[in-house]
Amino acid sequence: MKKRILGILFFSAFIVCVFAQKREIIQPGEIWPDVDGNHIQAHGGGIIKIKKTYFWYGEQRSQGLDSKYRYVSCYSSEDLINWKFRGNVLKMLPPDSMASNWILERPKVYYNQKTNKYVMYFHLDDAKYRTAQVGIAVCNKPDGDFKYVRRFRPLGCQSRDIGQFIDDDGSAYLVFEDRPTGFHIAKLSDDYMDIVKDMTIVKAHMEGGAIVHYEGLYYSIGSELTGWRANPNKYATAPSLEGPWTEFKDIAPAATNTYGSQSTMLIKVVGSKKTTVIFMGDQWRPKTQWDSRYLWMPLEIGNGKLILPQPNPWKINLKTGEATGL
Ligand code: DGJ
Repeated sequence: MKKRILGILFFSAFIVCVFAQKREIIQPGEIWPDVDGNHIQAHGGGIIKIKKTYFWYGEQRSQGLDSKYRYVSCYSSEDLINWKFRGNVLKMLPPDSMASNWILERPKVYYNQKTNKYVMYFHLDDAKYRTAQVGIAVCNKPDGDFKYVRRFRPLGCQSRDIGQFIDDDGSAYLVFEDRPTGFHIAKLSDDYMDIVKDMTIVKAHMEGGAIVHYEGLYYSIGSELTGWRANPNKYATAPSLEGPWTEFKDIAPAATNTYGSQSTMLIKVVGSKKTTVIFMGDQWRPKTQWDSRYLWMPLEIGNGKLILPQPNPWKINLKTGEATGL
């Protein structure tokens, strides 16, 4: 009996050790367990850094959730690799007159230093994607509970996929796809509760919009409009957010369809030796969304060129900013 109990204890300790082990590498396209061993559920996500902590928000698409609600998840990390689930920070019933099969996608959270509030934007739509609005929810802390505030069309325009960009001077922008006109990069109001000004409308129809400011140039990335199917994502550059923007070019060999992924954000890591820009993409599995994967890779970027290299396991040293492939 004693032996059996000891055996069970030993086995449990072994399991805890295996799951508690710190991960050292990012493996694009693989199951990405959080620190509790569950595949991360933060699809179409966005990341902000508050002091030393990164917060990753995204679509919570686990199986077995109460289908009356839509959920936004939050994870935190100090190394961009080991993520702790902080909870479903928004759990929402259909707002006002929306039908029960409404859609909440691509949540992005901004921290406003003036109001000390966390402001979440998300794509809010009906099942046929005709409402084309953003929703806003607010919280006093990064990990919820966020409270829904309102929904609207930014600057009166249709808005489907949204992206988040915070410039080096701290200014905050929403990227949104507007079917009739194109790809907007628009400034948030001082309190972040509204969208006040178009910096540019790029006449291209791009989803999954993401932007980075790197060595004096703005790089914008987006995908074509092919639903959940991957397509060749493209980039353009401009000396200022107002443009002029170059033509869009493929970020990876077109035949790979961006290695089966779609852009959601570009993360800039500024270290003592190097600045690395990470492409953060989703590999969607529309029929089993909970199993959708993440493709994160350091980009080859500079002098107006941007290339997504062939995905391979890699790691990053946040102090030096250096990313190394394995
Ligand atoms: C492509 C978008 O990027 C996704 O966020 C989602 O809206 C799908 N379309 C739906 O088909």
